[in-house]
Amino acid sequence: MTHQIKSLDEYKAAYQRSVDDPEAFWAEQAETFHWRKKWDKVLDWNFSEPNVNWFVNGKLNITENCLDRHLETRGDQVAILFEPNDPDADNITYTYKELHAEVCKVANAMKANGIEKGDRVCFYMPMVPELAIGVLACARIGAVHSVVFAGFSAQALADRIKDASCKAVICSDYNVRGAKNIPVKKVVDEALKMDTDSIELVLVHKNTGGDVDMSDSRAKWWHEEVDGQSTECEAEEMDSEDMLFILYTSGSTGKPKGVVHTCGGYMVYTAYSFKNVFQYEEGDIYWCTADIGWITGHSYIVYGPLLSGATTVMFEGVPTYPDAGRFWQVCEKLKVNQFYTAPTAIRALMAQGDQYVDKYDLSSIKVMGSVGEPINEEAWEWYYEKIGKKKAPIVDTWWQTETGGIMIGGLGEHSPMKPAHAGYPLPGIQPCLMDADGNELEGNDVEGLLCVKYPWPSILRTTYGDHERCRQTYFSAFKDLYFTGDGARRDKDGMYRIIGRVDDVINVSGHRMGTAEVENAINEHELVVESAVVGYPHDIKGQGIYAYIITAHPVDDEEAFRKELINVVKEEIGPIAKPDKIQIVSGLPKTRSGKIMRRILRKVASGDTSNLGDTSTLLNPGVVDEIKDNALVK
Ligand code: WT7
Repeated sequence: MTHQIKSLDEYKAAYQRSVDDPEAFWAEQAETFHWRKKWDKVLDWNFSEPNVNWFVNGKLNITENCLDRHLETRGDQVAILFEPNDPDADNITYTYKELHAEVCKVANAMKANGIEKGDRVCFYMPMVPELAIGVLACARIGAVHSVVFAGFSAQALADRIKDASCKAVICSDYNVRGAKNIPVKKVVDEALKMDTDSIELVLVHKNTGGDVDMSDSRAKWWHEEVDGQSTECEAEEMDSEDMLFILYTSGSTGKPKGVVHTCGGYMVYTAYSFKNVFQYEEGDIYWCTADIGWITGHSYIVYGPLLSGATTVMFEGVPTYPDAGRFWQVCEKLKVNQFYTAPTAIRALMAQGDQYVDKYDLSSIKVMGSVGEPINEEAWEWYYEKIGKKKAPIVDTWWQTETGGIMIGGLGEHSPMKPAHAGYPLPGIQPCLMDADGNELEGNDVEGLLCVKYPWPSILRTTYGDHERCRQTYFSAFKDLYFTGDGARRDKDGMYRIIGRVDDVINVSGHRMGTAEVENAINEHELVVESAVVGYPHDIKGQGIYAYIITAHPVDDEEAFRKELINVVKEEIGPIAKPDKIQIVSGLPKTRSGKIMRRILRKVASGDTSNLGDTSTLLNPGVVDEIKDNALVK
């Protein structure tokens, strides 16, 4: 097991060592895993191509470390503790032994269906144990998983299948979330009509047992393929730098890109960060409320916890079903020790009133995490007082799909806390702040663009099929630095406070979205000539989506038009991307070179029209007053 830091002094010493001799530091962590063959060299890197290799020529299989390694010591301990959507349904558990057997069966079923090492397998499934099992089965045989959040539309699913030329898609028949029953297989069928010819297998897990169309010759039932398979499956030997998974995430331009993570480094870093940030102890019950469709679920529901021999809770439902007390009811029932959620959920539950919290015993909670967006002070205080009873520390964890694991954040109770501050970097992480001219801002009490100076084991290796895009996006803004896209402040104590994205990426309820992506979806509507999308402050979601739209001709029924637009966005991306505010405008403020002045649009959307700066040099200054006068947020 990786080392666990147990005091602030120990943290400081570990941090210092990780900077003075990163290779020795990470080699020591890596030694605690099972490798088929040890690495020849710890690290080989440059950020100019970029080309980063950790544990060079090391051979391993991550599932041997998640599963096999635990069989002797904790075979009968619960690995996955499943809490179904229905609060009255029984929990389902998989011990490490059972999980190992199930993963092997699914791995064998995949092999029997022609899935081989290196093939890409897409998952479009709800939060049921079979999703984690399927993902691990891929890793077992060396197939690359690409999990697509099941809230995305058929179009978005098809885009992702095509980009990675997936050979198989694994889905459920239906998803249940709260009172909703969602026909998942039907969405997959739609996606399969959209030039997704690479798909040779559609494996359908019977979740609700509702009616589905299985007439496509590629469609097979999960249980028919899996039942009867052997419970042993020799793990494929993987190179440390072989691909483990692809996960799509939005950027400021173009379509979402497939962030690539590889086996060795990702394994070492997710386990190390999990154990230290959450201070997980033997026998604890750990619950992360994220969905496995996002990186948080990959790293801190599946891999980090299982690598550490933890009991990890998987929750199928939503925070407000049957009522706003569900999270706390589950914490009491399962005696959750570490609880990890997003600010948007905290704000939404806080708004429902304390009565939903007060009736539950939350004394088991030792550490509480926050992730996905900045946590405002009010939400932080409520979380700390009402949920943690001022005893459980909050770890505000800053990281990204691209970083693979937590970069800045507290280590349980061992780190100082400050509301709305993520705090100090984890050992091995060397953040820095830059100004727009490329100068590093030294010392404390400074604010700038957040970058990282040195590779850590779970840094992204490429964006699938387009390495140049990876270089351009993350490694070209500043020479020899990884650029995060976030702005941050380092306060007088050297603690980091994340301010938010400095690019055209918005964060809606912790979901990352490119404004260009939403604009492209809106532009699919036949009446739309041009659109501009910006984020604006939203009490619950953090940011809401504000769309300015130029139409080909005046619309008679604006209400109907808005509904149509929302439907187009739902079809192109999914419900999470639907605009909250739609303002029809006669023009967009543009510079003389034709660039949209988003700064003005952002200000108007935030309800602040006081000081829009000099607009006289605009191509069409007159449009600014019109936009201001008709603004939907005042
Ligand atoms: C972006 C990454 C990392 C898992 C979930 C989101 C924002 C993330 C924090 C935090 C302030 C945060 C950043 C980052 N973000 N965590 N604790 N405080 N902002 O992953 O979808 O890749 O989004 O989320 O802006 O760049 P993601």
